[in-house]
Amino acid sequence: MPSATALAHSNIALVKYWGKADRLRNLPAVSSLSLTLDGLATRTTVAFDEGLATDELWLNGQRQQGRPLQRASRLLDTVRGWAGSSSCAHIRSTNDFPTASGLASSASGFAALAAASCAAAGLHVEAPRVSALARAASASAARSIHPGFVLLPRGAEAAEPWAAADHWPVRLLIAVTDRGPKSVGSTEGMQRCEETSPYYSAWVEGAEALYERAKAAVRQRDLEALGDAMEQSTLRMHAAMHAAVPPVFYWLPATIAVLRRVWELRAQGTLAYATMDAGPHVKVLVSPADADIVYRALNELPGVSEVLVNSPGPGCQLTDGGVE
Ligand code: PMV
Repeated sequence: MPSATALAHSNIALVKYWGKADRLRNLPAVSSLSLTLDGLATRTTVAFDEGLATDELWLNGQRQQGRPLQRASRLLDTVRGWAGSSSCAHIRSTNDFPTASGLASSASGFAALAAASCAAAGLHVEAPRVSALARAASASAARSIHPGFVLLPRGAEAAEPWAAADHWPVRLLIAVTDRGPKSVGSTEGMQRCEETSPYYSAWVEGAEALYERAKAAVRQRDLEALGDAMEQSTLRMHAAMHAAVPPVFYWLPATIAVLRRVWELRAQGTLAYATMDAGPHVKVLVSPADADIVYRALNELPGVSEVLVNSPGPGCQLTDGGVE
């Protein structure tokens, strides 16, 4: 029974991807720049087994059916096509972060699945193709193939590395907020914005300039410039979401409390910058020297259940070697 295991870490977009240039192929309408984290990892084992009648997916020990299984099977279909095989697979995936925290990101999951399934099928697939395979399932997953600071240009098939994890030792604090009602999934949320938000076109038009500013800021290790582009990116994305009909609204009172605290800290001279994704949690970018102060300030806010501290992390790896 040929099997392989891969380990991938989550990534957070500092400049966001939101919107599809091609829905069928899942190509992004705007360029994004992310940071791969050293925490929030998913370990996935894929074992092909001719005896299985269907693919089986186990996530944190629980058998999955419906959409999660369909998305995994679709990725495996591509790999089966490449390998000329029709074997079904047993997929076992575990997150090293509490699933109940609502942080279960598809990014680390699909990156690990892409790498493990290629290796289990006996294919020697290079990183850009593994990244494209992950991107077809979830565009943000394309970026988790690479370490450190990563680019996913608009319309691109695959993500590309921009700066190594040790290029710039920033910290990304994740303020985990109490969970609200179940969020709208990113695919549905994007589609609703594309179709109904009067601000969607403005979001797309402005995104490339922010991306270029963020790329330069990472190169120059300029926290102020990166933070500025980062906050504009998230606030413009959420403005486009809020103007959709019905609104795509992910924030909770604690989301706004964290945001305001970050702005207060900045007014007092601490360089801290916030970003939010398709959920209520807030991620805060700081220098290592300020991580403690900001950690304590966020941790005491009502509605914040915990604060996770992350550094730039590694790319996706097979447990018996890297993804080349
Ligand atoms: O890759 P998806 O479909 O999970 O979309 C991710 C969208 C955001 O997290 C909101 C932004 C991003 O670039 O990761």
